[in-house]
Amino acid sequence: MTLLKTMNLNVKFWAVVPAAGVGKRMNADRPKQYLMLSGKTVIEHTLSRLIEAQVFSAVSVAVSEEDPYWPELAIARHEAIITAPGGKERADSVLSGLKAIGHQADDDDWVLVHDAARPCLTAEDIRLMINTLQNDDVGGILALPSHDTLKQVNGNDIVNTQDRRQIWRALTPQMFRYGMLKSALTATAGNLAVTDEASALELMGFTPKIVEGRPDNIKITRPEDLALAQFYLKQQAQQKELS
Ligand code: C5P
Repeated sequence: MTLLKTMNLNVKFWAVVPAAGVGKRMNADRPKQYLMLSGKTVIEHTLSRLIEAQVFSAVSVAVSEEDPYWPELAIARHEAIITAPGGKERADSVLSGLKAIGHQADDDDWVLVHDAARPCLTAEDIRLMINTLQNDDVGGILALPSHDTLKQVNGNDIVNTQDRRQIWRALTPQMFRYGMLKSALTATAGNLAVTDEASALELMGFTPKIVEGRPDNIKITRPEDLALAQFYLKQQAQQKELS
């Protein structure tokens, strides 16, 4: 396992987990983060991974105020977990999660924002990201190169073909300085082009970096993703046993 090479001992790391989405594309009776996956809910896997990495001062989780499932989970009362009210869009939930740690976090601290719906995140990727970016001025995101050819379309008509060597898929965690991220999300509030933290920073004129992540860090979006996540969790457990 890659060890964490902390350069500045005064800088803390925080995790913010937006978990207030309804996940319409799952067609399920509850938000996707509360569906069962290998014996526990998706969000319990995600939060356990973050807590077990042992790098975060706290994990701030933004959940809908009408969410009946969250208070039922034991992990909601874990000492490392802070609960914040969710917002209308993902960016609003992230901003709320940031505000909930505002009395403890310094502007220079690093925040790793991670989707509740990505339960297969590994400690290896968290450490890779921190080791790669902690001396950067801006920060960056885990991402994967696109193996498919990508088409821009208008209805069913192909308008053009993108150069896939320049196209990467944005994953989470996305790692930025507390102060810079909060300012960028506040300044871009309501802008629907802000679908991740990096896009808010980009709109402010910054240039976030990419760090190549593992392909098993999938986002649960459609029903078939649960079976795939189950497979990856099992595979990761077997790899851990062998190492
Ligand atoms: O819907 P999508 O998969 O893009 O959502 C990504 C993450 O953002 C999920 O963990 C979801 O719960 C969260 N989210 C949120 N608040 C919203 C919308 C989405 O916290 N208003």
